[in-house]
Amino acid sequence: MAMLTWTIIGLLALCHSSIAYTKFPPGFTFGVATASHQIEGAWNVNGKSENVWDRLSHTRPEMIADGTNGDIACDSYNRYLEDVEELEYLGVDFYRFSLSWARLLPTGRIDHINPDGIRYYNDLLDALAEKNIEPLVTLFHWDLPQTLQDLGGWTNPKMIDYFRDYADLCFKEFGTKIKSWITFNEPYEICEDAYGDEKKAPAINSHGVGNYLCSDNLLKAHAESYHLYNETYRPVQNGRIMISINSIWYEPSDPSNAEQVVLAEVANQFKFGWFAHPIFTVEGGYPAVMVENVARQSAAEGLPKPRLEQFDDYWIQRIKGTSDFLGINHYTTWLVTGAGVDPTAKSPSWLKISEQ
Ligand SMILES: *[C@@H]1O[C@H](CO)[C@@H](O)[C@H](O)[C@H]1NC(C)=O
Repeated sequence: MAMLTWTIIGLLALCHSSIAYTKFPPGFTFGVATASHQIEGAWNVNGKSENVWDRLSHTRPEMIADGTNGDIACDSYNRYLEDVEELEYLGVDFYRFSLSWARLLPTGRIDHINPDGIRYYNDLLDALAEKNIEPLVTLFHWDLPQTLQDLGGWTNPKMIDYFRDYADLCFKEFGTKIKSWITFNEPYEICEDAYGDEKKAPAINSHGVGNYLCSDNLLKAHAESYHLYNETYRPVQNGRIMISINSIWYEPSDPSNAEQVVLAEVANQFKFGWFAHPIFTVEGGYPAVMVENVARQSAAEGLPKPRLEQFDDYWIQRIKGTSDFLGINHYTTWLVTGAGVDPTAKSPSWLKISEQ
C-alpha cells in the first residue's frame, strides 16, 4: 500500500460513479495523480540532492502540521512497481506524476546529470507502458533543488535558462515515452504561497514583491520550455504540452448585485487570470485590472515604480498561446458578498482589499 490517499479518493469516485450514474461520456478518461516529493522518499539516495521541501521540513518542522517530512514518504522510489500494480488494479487510463529535478540534476544545472535519476524514471515509464497506463508528466511540482533556491530560486531571472535546460534533458531522455507534459503545477501556489508568503517551501515571505518576481520568471520559463518542445521535440515526439493552473473560482453571491459581480471578476483575475491571462487570452500579458490595481496601490505606498509591471511586447508575444490544453486544479468556489479586509493577509498583498 505505497500509494497515497489520492489513489483512494480516485477509487471511491470510480465506485460512486458506477452506482450513481449510468455512464461517463465516451472518451472520458480516469486517472490518479501524485507529486515526486509527496511519494518518492529516498531523499538523499543514489545522487539525489536536497530540495526546498527537504530543507524546510528538516530545519523548520514546526511549519508542517504533524512535523513529518518526505524522507521516506510512500517509498515509491523503491516500491514503484507495487504502485504500478495498484494503478492497474484501479483500472485507470493515465497516471500523472512529477519528476524530481534534484534527482535528475543534483546541482539544479545541466552540468551534472545523475544516471540513477534517468534510470529510475525510465524504469517507471517502462512499467507503466507494460500495463498500458498513459503517463502525464509534470516537470515542476514545487520541489526546487536547494542549490537553485540558494541563488534566489524563482525570483532569479537565470531560472528561465535553468528550467529550460532541465526541460530539455527531460524531453530528450523521456520524450519518446511521454505524450503529455505539464510544465508547472499550480503556479499561483508556487509564487504566492512560497515566495509571497511562508505557507510553502522555500517560505520566502516577500509579499507584494517576491510573488511578482516569481511570476515574471516562471511564466517566461514556461514559455521557453513550450517553444523548445514545440520547435524541437514535437515534430519527432508528437506530444502535447500544457500548464496546470489551480484556482478558487469566485461567483457573486447575488448575481444582480453589480458590485459583487465586479468584485468577483477582480478576484478571479488576481487568482486565475494572473497565470491564465498571459497564456490563454488574445491580448496576452497580466490582466489589466491587476496591473492597474497594483500600480495604484504602489503609488499610494509612495513607491517610484509599481511592484508589478506588465511584460514588454516581446514577452507578451512570447508567452501568449504557449499551452496546448488548459489544466485546471479546482478545489472550491467562493461566493462574494462584498469588499472586506482579510485580517490575516499581509500588506502589501492582493489579499488585502486595498490591492483589489
Ligand atoms: C508551434 O509550432 C508551430 C509549427 O511550427 C507553429 O505554427 C506555432 O505557431 C507554434 N506555437 C507557438 C505558440 O509558438
